[in-house]
Amino acid sequence: MDSELFAGKVAFITGGAGGLGQAMAAAFTEQGATVALADLPSRADELTPVAARLPRAVPVQLDVRDSASIRAAVQEAVNRVGSLDIMVCNAGLNVRKPSLEVIEADWDSVVDVNLRGVFFSAQAGAAQMLRQGRGGKIVCIASIMGLVAAATSGAAYCASKAGVVNLTRLLAIEWASHNIQVNSVAPTYVRTPLTEAVFKDEAFLRHVLGRTPNGQLATPRSVADAVVFLASSKADMITGTTLPVDGGWTAW
Ligand SMILES: NC(=O)c1ccc[n+]([C@@H]2O[C@H](COP(=O)([O-])OP(=O)(O)OC[C@H]3O[C@@H](n4cnc5c(N)ncnc54)[C@H](O)[C@@H]3O)[C@@H](O)[C@H]2O)c1
Repeated sequence: MDSELFAGKVAFITGGAGGLGQAMAAAFTEQGATVALADLPSRADELTPVAARLPRAVPVQLDVRDSASIRAAVQEAVNRVGSLDIMVCNAGLNVRKPSLEVIEADWDSVVDVNLRGVFFSAQAGAAQMLRQGRGGKIVCIASIMGLVAAATSGAAYCASKAGVVNLTRLLAIEWASHNIQVNSVAPTYVRTPLTEAVFKDEAFLRHVLGRTPNGQLATPRSVADAVVFLASSKADMITGTTLPVDGGWTAW
């Protein structure tokens, strides 16, 4: 892609301090975008230097479990960098337990961030795009576990990510007339803080690589490249879809 693909555009990335969020921020800024990197106040010490290392990046604080906090962060970003053209709903977490051991607090903590948080982030992004009146792009980060299931990923995670896949279709239909395209990316396993614990288990890593047709994990960059594509004008005709970045995992 050319380095000025996003010249004059602003991308707002939730979960910006995380493994995938940082890779996305780098990919967007390399293509000329300004980036608002948004994460929990408790991650501010990590987020600030990440933003400082990138050209045209500002850190913002939010908690995606709180819609008022999302709207305030969007407003703060717009005040600081002028607009919001791309909303990347990326913040996510997991609590891995067998279904019989899951308690309400486990379920709520996962669904509140992965599904409710994605919805209200998309809503706040779309509301700002409507105020600006020139459309925009929303890219949600689902997972292959929204398309297929694995007991090791847990019920709430699989259900929340499947919810993101269908939410993507609904929002795409609803906002198409406003020239807002809504899509998701569904990564396979990537080495990030989210998966650090599971990959300490060598047998699990061998299982994942053996289960993947191309025998590889995704890299943060491979996920970021898919996000950048869906957020670009090259994808103007694509809306309501979920793009697996999975080395073929969901092909069988
Ligand atoms: N790493 C993988 O293997 C993988 C695979 C498929 C999908 N994903 C998805 O990719 C996204 C990013 O994951 P990652 O691997 O970068 O994980 P990560 O743990 O490195 O980053 C997640 C970020 O989300 C932030 N976050 C959590 N709760 C939040 C809240 N309430 N408000 C604001 N921010 C919050 C965290 O602080 C963190 O910075 C997630 O949605 C995850 O489910 C990851």
